[in-house]
Amino acid sequence: MAQIIDGKARAKEIRKQLKGRVHDFQVEAGHPPGLGVILVGEDPASAVYVRNKERACARTGIRSFHHPLAKDATQQQLEQLIDQLNEDPEVHGILLQLPLPSHLDAEPLLLRISPDKDADGFHPVNAGRLAVGQPTFVPCTPLGCIDLLQTAGVTLQGADAVVVGRSNIVGKPVAQLLLAEGATVTICHSKTQNLAAHVGRADVVVAAVGRPEMIRGEWIKPGAAVIDVGINRIDDGSIVGDVEFAAASERAGCITPVPGGVGPMTVAKLLENTLAGAIRFEECKLQE
Ligand code: GUN
Repeated sequence: MAQIIDGKARAKEIRKQLKGRVHDFQVEAGHPPGLGVILVGEDPASAVYVRNKERACARTGIRSFHHPLAKDATQQQLEQLIDQLNEDPEVHGILLQLPLPSHLDAEPLLLRISPDKDADGFHPVNAGRLAVGQPTFVPCTPLGCIDLLQTAGVTLQGADAVVVGRSNIVGKPVAQLLLAEGATVTICHSKTQNLAAHVGRADVVVAAVGRPEMIRGEWIKPGAAVIDVGINRIDDGSIVGDVEFAAASERAGCITPVPGGVGPMTVAKLLENTLAGAIRFEECKLQE
């Protein structure tokens, strides 16, 4: 039976540690780190995510600036708001909650967020910095995945790692982070042939496809570490991951549950990113 990796407990530990660092920042800078949050419309899942993020900010001492916009907000309104947050010295991180309503184009808006305030790490400049190994904002969910692997004591150097999913938000950046840790990385996706064979030889599996229980438990190599990023609501209303948890946990060495695995870590890493952005911002001010 696999060790269950408790993301909720690890996220709590991170928040506790952050609280002290945020306090120190506030004492030195004279103001708290600030996160600007933009939510367009009333998508219920997004509203829950945003509420969780804001609650976590409040508990840690980070100030969040909530900017709810109506579902018919225009591209230009969003551009103006992003410009305003880019200029605001009390805002060190900006988060544009995705997905946006279909009449809006997310890509130019993500490009408009200053790379120095890009707490989500979605700006192409930051994706590039990650790819060449420069310090940067890294997307929060991939950071959470690596933290959980390290907390569970998984050796990444020389490990065969298989990432299932090639999104810009999770698949590609988590592959970069695994590569930086010295893993041999394969990225699988919807066109991959014989996914079972790839997964079957992996020491580390990161599943981020958004398909309920697509990764079968019987594919998992005995002793492998399994990180499940999926959050899928199924017909009976319950939430399952991208991995068939019960069967996979019979074979894996360690595995994240859904919920309570990667999910809470995403928020914890967003808080860490915001503080890191605030510290960099203050350092730059001193150098001016
Ligand atoms: N929508 C779902 N996850 C995320 C996330 O991590 N960041 C943003 N901005 N939107 C999301």
